[in-house]
Parts: sequence; structure tokens; C-alpha cells
Amino acid sequence: MSIDTATGKEAPAELSSERVKDIFATIAKKYERFNAVSSFGAYKAWLAGMMRQASIGPDDDVLDVAGGTGDVAFTVARAKHPRHIQCTDLVNEMLDVARAHYADGAADGVPVDFEVVDAQNIPYADATYDVITMAYGIRNMPDRPRALAEMLRVLKPGGSLVCLEFSTPPNRVWRALYNFYLKHLIPFWGGLITGDREGFVYLARSIKAFPDQQGLATLMEDAGFTDITWKNYTGGIAAVHVAKKPQ
Ligand SMILES: C[S@@+](CC[C@H](N)C(=O)[O-])C[C@H]1O[C@@H](n2cnc3c(N)ncnc32)[C@H](O)[C@@H]1O
Repeated sequence: MSIDTATGKEAPAELSSERVKDIFATIAKKYERFNAVSSFGAYKAWLAGMMRQASIGPDDDVLDVAGGTGDVAFTVARAKHPRHIQCTDLVNEMLDVARAHYADGAADGVPVDFEVVDAQNIPYADATYDVITMAYGIRNMPDRPRALAEMLRVLKPGGSLVCLEFSTPPNRVWRALYNFYLKHLIPFWGGLITGDREGFVYLARSIKAFPDQQGLATLMEDAGFTDITWKNYTGGIAAVHVAKKPQ
């Protein structure tokens, strides 16, 4: 079943896919600045947390899903020096920014290839990758069970998925403050920085409509992942889930 990623309600997949393509193709060049400003720099700490939870060795082949402008791929490259990283995204304009960073040496000598890939239909062979990384990706996908099944398929047995995503603060007061920030301030900041207010109304709505920590873990379990754990960041505004493909 596919959903509208802005509401969580059943809808044709094309509705969300076309919208997300438009949004990220439009904001690609300003995306990184928006991230830095809107999260008050917290997204760097979340990425560092993701690296601590990701077990990646020098012989590993890594697939970065919804890689965007390459932040996760380049952070993995510098922190872990794996054998190779395949950085993929639905939107070529986002990957163009990543390619430019790569040309400037962002991967510290680690080979990285870039390809336009819809995570719901991954064009790679079964059991190809040791680790899959994905930050702020799954929330934008209208058919999440299918995307997770595809990730499970291309992972080697024993391989892991490391997923950073916005989540739900368990504390009621913190959640209320955060919801206010999402609804009112995110569209304001986003509009100011990128000129595309609507894209940020979408961002806020998609975060609100996304399952909480346990909900995402259940989706992963239903797709066939095991040993699912998660860690909250900034009081649960973000969470990093780690899930394994059974041996
Ligand atoms: C918020 S950005 C995150 C980019 C990057 N991971 C980061 O941490 O900066 C979300 C990305 O998901 C991509 N995306 C959305 N739907 C996708 C899909 N079905 N398959 C692959 N990528 C997708 C978008 O194009 C966008 O680049």
C-alpha cells in the first residue's frame, strides 16, 4: 500500500514521488544551508551519533540511500574509510551537488559512485552491500514496506541498515514545543533561506505524519529485519535505528 507522505493516508505513490522530486530539485543548491540553520547545528551531532552506531569496516561496501548532497556518504568516507560507497538518490540535482563536493576531495580518497535510484526499486543484485546508510530518506517514500524490502534484499546476510530520521519526542512538553517549532518556524526559516516556503510546509507535515520510534521499528521488523535497536537524539526529535539482515 502506498501513502501520501504528507498525511500518512493511502494515496497513489506518484503523488508523493512527484512532489518530492519537485521539492528537492528546486532546493538542491540551498539544502545544506537550510539544514545548518534550521536545526541550530544539531543535525551535525545527529550525524555524529549515526557514525557511532554504524559498524563499518575498511573492507565494507556501503550503499547510501536517499544520499542527497552526499553529507552521509562523505562523513562515512572520512570516519570509516570503507572500500567503496554507492551514493544514490531519486533526484539528480541533489547528486550534482554531491558530485561537486566529491570533485573537491570530500571523500578523502574513498571511491564513491553516484547514481539516480528510487529506493523502492533498487537496481542492484541481491546480497551486494555490507551496510546501508539512510538519513531523512524513508519518511519521503510513499511505499515504505517496499523500500525496506528492497534494502533487505541488497544487503548481505548479517549486514545492517543504519537509519537516521526525525521522530517523536516521548516527553509531552518537549513534544508540544517541538510541534510548535515544526508548524510555525520551519516554514518561516525554509521560506527565508530557500525561497520555497511550500517545501517546508511539506517537511513539517511529513515529520508529523511519520511513525514514532516503535512504529518505524515495526515497519523494519515486518520487512524481515531483526535485532532492531534505536537511540534518541535531542530528546527524540531524531532517532537512529540499526537493523540487521538475518544470517
Ligand atoms: C532530506 S534529504 C536527505 C539527504 C541526505 N541523506 C542528507 O542527510 O542530507 C531527502 C532525500 O531523499 C531523497 N528521496 C526521496 N524519495 C526518494 C526515493 N524514493 N528514493 C531515493 N531517494 C529519495 C530526496 O531526493 C532527497 O535528496
